[in-house]
Amino acid sequence: MHTPGRLIAIEGGEGVGKSTQAALLACTIGAVLSREPGGSPIAERIRDLLLDHSLGTPAPRAELYLMLAARAEHLSVLIEPALAVGRHVVVDRFVGSTLAYQGYGRGLPVDEVRRACDLASGGRWPDLCILLDIPRDLAERRRAAQQAQLPGVSPDRIEAEEPEFHRRVNEGFRTLASDDSGRWVVLDGSAPPPQVAAAVLGAVRARLGIEGFL
Ligand code: TMP
Repeated sequence: MHTPGRLIAIEGGEGVGKSTQAALLACTIGAVLSREPGGSPIAERIRDLLLDHSLGTPAPRAELYLMLAARAEHLSVLIEPALAVGRHVVVDRFVGSTLAYQGYGRGLPVDEVRRACDLASGGRWPDLCILLDIPRDLAERRRAAQQAQLPGVSPDRIEAEEPEFHRRVNEGFRTLASDDSGRWVVLDGSAPPPQVAAAVLGAVRARLGIEGFL
């Protein structure tokens, strides 16, 4: 699908610094910044439902299709209109997270998840997926530090999954990136944030020819 604007997804497991890097990149290239699940009023309501502990864990396919319902809405309300008028869009998570979490993490067949993603997004895939990868112990330390800064805020339902789930998710991300290296770039997220930001911008420039304002 070709539109004048380009869609860039920042992906990775918990505690890799995605949100910081997505915000820095959007600011540097003048893109619209959004996140998933969420990014529109209805999609944010679905996010609340998805991440709420009090309801227990939904069936894996229910979780998948709620993620996809939020995405279809987000695409229709925010992403596609922005791309159509030539704005670039940076999303903090997109289809890579669905493949990694609902496919590799929950154990749904990855090909089924891929087909469902394609249907829900009307064939829209990111022009570039940037995977921020960091060693597991550093991710754990960052998550603990974030929790300490926000006392009383408990991890969301998916974040609170057992370590083995997160190990499968992280391995899934690495597999996705190595199987589709034309769409994915893997960057070391353990460097200081300004260094990671420079690497992210370098990848966007090299792969998409988009220059930053800085
Ligand atoms: P966030 O904390 O990075 O905003 O993401 C919320 C959670 O949603 C995170 O644990 C990853 C999860 N997630 C999925 O399981 N599948 C998806 O398709 C997306 C976009 C997020």
